[in-house]
Amino acid sequence: MIRHATLKDSIGIFELIRAHRDDLIGRPLGDIIQNIDRFVVCEMDGKLVGCASFQLWPEIGFPERATAEIQSVAVAEEYRRRHIGTELIKAVMAKIKVFEPPHAIVLTFAPEFFSTLGFKVIPKTQIMHKLYMGCINCTKHANPFTCPEIAMSVNLRRDAD
Ligand SMILES: CC(C)(COP(=O)(O)OP(=O)(O)OC[C@H]1O[C@@H](n2cnc3c(N)ncnc32)[C@H](O)[C@@H]1OP(=O)(O)O)[C@@H](O)C(=O)NCCC(=O)NCCS
Repeated sequence: MIRHATLKDSIGIFELIRAHRDDLIGRPLGDIIQNIDRFVVCEMDGKLVGCASFQLWPEIGFPERATAEIQSVAVAEEYRRRHIGTELIKAVMAKIKVFEPPHAIVLTFAPEFFSTLGFKVIPKTQIMHKLYMGCINCTKHANPFTCPEIAMSVNLRRDAD
């Protein structure tokens, strides 16, 4: 049910993200294809009903401290509250852990969901590298500090601060 994405999933992922334009940053099909190896998907009843992905944000001067951000998490409305989202995050975290980053972060409107997975709310000032490299290109909100998305983080390494 939960598996790594393949190129055949690209359009389904594109449509799922587009259907959640109020909650997620839109992604062009080309971007999805270029990053298809970072996606996990859920297929049920022959349909793509969920997806999740990640991005790595470098910390200048400290390559081993790059932060992993969970992105593009969506479950089709009629399939929610069946723990598909939980299994997608577990699968994407397994991909992330291979690189041994100190933290995984997320910017989200669904803090209750991410808190069930061990994420804690953090001030956005703790993720300035994400703000400078990602949020600065956002077309939804001009200022990341007034953007209503909530920043959350989970430690993945014992030496994470
Ligand atoms: C957030 C989202 C991915 C959750 O997917 P899901 O498959 O319904 O989540 P799960 O069934 O795994 O939920 C696990 C737990 O999280 C909590 N949770 C999930 N959705 C919640 C909600 N809307 N409100 C409060 N708690 C919620 C519950 O504790 C739930 O456990 P329970 O159903 O046994 O009580 C889904 O609601 C969604 O696609 N939302 C729109 C897109 C979005 O906001 N994505 C996240 C942006 S990064």
